[in-house]
Amino acid sequence: MRFGHFDDARREYVITQPDTPLPWMNYLGSEDYFALITNTAGGYAFYRDARLRRITRYRYNVPGHHGGRYLYVRDDESADYWSPGWQPTQSPLENYSCRHGLGYTIIGSTHAGIRAETRYFVPLGENLEVWQTTITNQRSTPAKLSIFSAVEFCLWDAWDDATNFQRNFSTGEVEVEEGMVYHKTEYRERRRHFAYFACSEKPAGFDTQREDFLGAYRGWERPSVVEQGHSCDSIAYGWQPIGSFHIRVTLEPGEEKQIIFLLGYFENPRDGKYDPPDSQTINKHGVKPVIAKFTDRTQADTAFEALRAYWDELLGALQVETPNEHVDRMVNIWNAYQCMATFNISRSASLFESGIGRGLGFRDSNQDLLGFVQMVPTRARQRILNLAATQLPSGGAYHQFQPLTGLGNHDIGSNFNDDPHWLVLAVGAYLRETGDFSILDECIPYDNHLGSETPLYEHLQRAVQYTLDRLGPHGLPLIGRADWNDCLNLNSHAETPGESFQTAGYKEGGIAESIFIAGLFVASAREMAQIAARLTGRIQETNAEFEVKQAGYYLQLADQMSDTICREGWDGEWFLRAYDGAGRKVGSSECEEGKIYVEPQGFCAMAGIGLDNGLARQAMDSVRSRLLTEHGLALLQPAYSKYDPNLGEISSYPPGYKENGGIFCHNNPWAIIAEARMGNGEGALDYYLRINPSKREALSELHRCEPYIYAQMIAGPEAPTHGEAKNSWLTGTAAWNYVAITQWILGIRPEYDGLRIDPCIPPQWNGFSMRRRFRGERLEITVHNPEGVSRGVVRMSIDGTEAEGNLIVPRPGGGERKIEVWLG
Ligand code: BGC
Ligand code: NOJ
Repeated sequence: MRFGHFDDARREYVITQPDTPLPWMNYLGSEDYFALITNTAGGYAFYRDARLRRITRYRYNVPGHHGGRYLYVRDDESADYWSPGWQPTQSPLENYSCRHGLGYTIIGSTHAGIRAETRYFVPLGENLEVWQTTITNQRSTPAKLSIFSAVEFCLWDAWDDATNFQRNFSTGEVEVEEGMVYHKTEYRERRRHFAYFACSEKPAGFDTQREDFLGAYRGWERPSVVEQGHSCDSIAYGWQPIGSFHIRVTLEPGEEKQIIFLLGYFENPRDGKYDPPDSQTINKHGVKPVIAKFTDRTQADTAFEALRAYWDELLGALQVETPNEHVDRMVNIWNAYQCMATFNISRSASLFESGIGRGLGFRDSNQDLLGFVQMVPTRARQRILNLAATQLPSGGAYHQFQPLTGLGNHDIGSNFNDDPHWLVLAVGAYLRETGDFSILDECIPYDNHLGSETPLYEHLQRAVQYTLDRLGPHGLPLIGRADWNDCLNLNSHAETPGESFQTAGYKEGGIAESIFIAGLFVASAREMAQIAARLTGRIQETNAEFEVKQAGYYLQLADQMSDTICREGWDGEWFLRAYDGAGRKVGSSECEEGKIYVEPQGFCAMAGIGLDNGLARQAMDSVRSRLLTEHGLALLQPAYSKYDPNLGEISSYPPGYKENGGIFCHNNPWAIIAEARMGNGEGALDYYLRINPSKREALSELHRCEPYIYAQMIAGPEAPTHGEAKNSWLTGTAAWNYVAITQWILGIRPEYDGLRIDPCIPPQWNGFSMRRRFRGERLEITVHNPEGVSRGVVRMSIDGTEAEGNLIVPRPGGGERKIEVWLG
């Protein structure tokens, strides 16, 4: 069953039923101001950091979730009232639709002959969201209406806001001036920022105290102010500051009216907080022009068009036409769009991540870059430098950092021994996309300490060295607290309820080793070899501590580690997963449960390990025979049936969920890439389609999460809810699937010296085309497959002239070229 449909021409998903299995959401905002918005206008907003600078309040886990952009329309003649976005009143609606688009959401419906539709978006470069509400009277008689709007402010630090009531029930403060509401809690002390809620119309009334608006013991679904039809003009002193307006409208039959609401964030200069300067009144000279601008309909429309154009431009970096609509839709629209969201927010704030638990993940953000770099390389560059600044002098990295401060998170700390290598892969992806080697010369500190700067290149060298300094008894990399699989805590021992699996009883110097990190190390060392081969005299002079090694050094490291993996990390039919803290095998046929894990198979084969001796093929055959389900590849089999403190969190999950044998979508693309590397186009696409959200749209009732974006996990075969997705939106799945489909199945792959065309497609496909921006040029690539093969470019022409090989060498100066390629 479906709850809506794709509108590809408008690049929208149109939800036609408000009670989707879970709230289906979208993100607004591109750089600093972000908003989560569900199909019923739920969600919240924050400035840069979902924990430290939360603008509006959201309560997870209360049925249906609480918090949103509440609108009520009231018929002042009948006293009937409803919410045009269904929540919170849940009144019956006609023609409900929610159009989630790229950076905007439009929610509309009709009730009792009154149409109300609101377009929500964040204008580019602004720290505010615009709600453009259009009310149309479709009745044959005049309508006397009241519109009420409401937002509930968060007292900035979302954690404190949800816990420290003895203090924060007394700190709330607002100002109301010329019909605008300013939320200024803590402005009197160390903050110089405030939030505001504004409206294009002169309100008939307002409220800023939640209890006055709702009435005692009432919820958002029946506020007493709305019921009675007039505001209280309340001023919040402590308790729960809100912003609410009451607008009266009379509409003739057929008449429409647009009301614009703005919810925004503003910062004043430290020495210009007040006006007059010796008062406690917010200085509004800066914010008033912004409010005036976006409460103007023409200006709001212009800003919306600019947002549309921005997305056209971004997506223009890569567009395809293939025989499969699910491929086209995901590549051209939604997968690229999700890559932007994960780049912006990493794992910090979704409907499954409260925004208070963690900042941005180091490995996560580096991987997100892989799917994003072609869209805005300059932002990718900056992100790389910020990430590198959280690296430690040892070459390791803080596992997470706060976006607002850029500082590493001490609670979780370091020692996730895979972390630093993702920086190497991210830099590699950036270099292959842009050719901008100057990034390697950027001097970046370690742990954000002034004076510790070295060129970025040395950060990468230290990443490699980090692993070389931490090899275990089998010559394989030590795992530390965990590797990519955060739940494989082989050196920790958590026995007490509530302890962190990753940090409790952590044994410094524990000997658990990871075959996954070994595979990652090979990929990272090979990337270093490619970079080293192209350094040509740069870096050396500024590089104080580390000698610059030749490419051969890294190739040798990669080869040695490959050999070690094939020798010490091979189980007979697949790659082992790890050796635990006591040197026992994990992910082996000798184990009772968890005999085979997908990560080392996909990653090692993808990194080219075992390609020449048949091990990669055999490992991937084992993946197919043991891990494949109709909903994708399970992470491991069989799932652990009981908790084992020697394994850690992985065995804490009931079988089939999350890392314990769920279909962890993030590592499916590694298997897809591995199959493509080995020439199995049909198998690669088959794996790809099993977790493709658009393909799964028809299963929406089972899948439950949004059909336009990837979720982290789909419940595995042992789970009673096999096929049900969870943790949608913020997942490394987005970037890796984008890489898998565009660079490995379609096979159009940035390399250091140009764009490689090496498709690996199902033989039934007669070809496909791709438009791609690459290093300043526009390339139009058409691939023909007249012989029905999977792979093998036999001929290429550039602008009609035959060309050697299958690498498009960049041509300085921009322009356009037409490339034709024949497989055979
Ligand atoms: C989750 C992992 C996640 C880790 C750290 C665990 O509970 O299962 O997927 O990586 O927490 O956030
Ligand atoms: C989610 C985490 O954010 C990511 O870093 C990790 O690799 C996966 N879970 C797997 O555990």
